[in-house]
Amino acid sequence: MGPAAVLTHSYGKKSGREKDAMARRKLIAGNWKMNGLRADGTALAASVAARLKAAGQARYDMLVCPPFPLVPLVLETVAGSGVSVGAQDCHMQVKGAHTGDTSATLLKDLGCSHVIVGHSERRTDHGETDAIVKAKAEAAVAAGLVVIVCIGETLDERDAGKTLEINRRQLLGSLPDAATASNTVIAYEPVWAIGTGRTATPEQAQEVHAMIRAELVAKLGQETADGMRVLYGGSMNPKNAKELLALPDIDGGLIGGASLKAEDFFAVAEGSPS
Ligand code: PGA
Repeated sequence: MGPAAVLTHSYGKKSGREKDAMARRKLIAGNWKMNGLRADGTALAASVAARLKAAGQARYDMLVCPPFPLVPLVLETVAGSGVSVGAQDCHMQVKGAHTGDTSATLLKDLGCSHVIVGHSERRTDHGETDAIVKAKAEAAVAAGLVVIVCIGETLDERDAGKTLEINRRQLLGSLPDAATASNTVIAYEPVWAIGTGRTATPEQAQEVHAMIRAELVAKLGQETADGMRVLYGGSMNPKNAKELLALPDIDGGLIGGASLKAEDFFAVAEGSPS
């Protein structure tokens, strides 16, 4: 199916699609990466929690994913605020001789609700293949966590016209077998947009998001696919968030740099359509 067909497919049933998009509450997720010490991590978490509380009945869900050692502190700091806490990776095994790794079971035990797997920095820095990412996603789901499965093409792959092919392969190769709308979130993050200040245009993002939705329909059925959240990530900031979050198949953001300032993180969230 070519890009045009995918878009046509996606835009086919307008009123139903609008309803589905409304049913998918936006998820605004902060990926702190390897940033923050105890003091600034706590301060950032406290500020995010205070802002969410002040916002009252927010129309979006909010998640922060600090580095592993800060997870307990952040959980304690945001307790009762409605802010969820996740981790940035997990191991595929429940326990054992895996020096330096952390199990999804421990993350769940600590109080995490989510875990990110397959981020492009993990795929590049740690040689994570789709099979590894899928095994991690299975472990996360088995532990009772919501898994955020990241996919995305490099600039070379985009320039070679392989964007949809690469993202389709990563999606189908990384999705856990037990995926449901409530235990799995997909994050499309073009590698060339991560940390570069260069964001995908709304058309570029929507084209990939529509393909993802169509593949989810084919693999998991209409109902599951309609309920599953697909986030965009890559230099999302208060200036570009509103336009991206208004697109029919973008159900939130995975935000790196802009999530390190509570004010910017909130401005992104507040850009969600009401
Ligand atoms: P960025 O990172 O917002 O700094 O581009 C996003 C991510 O890598 O999740």
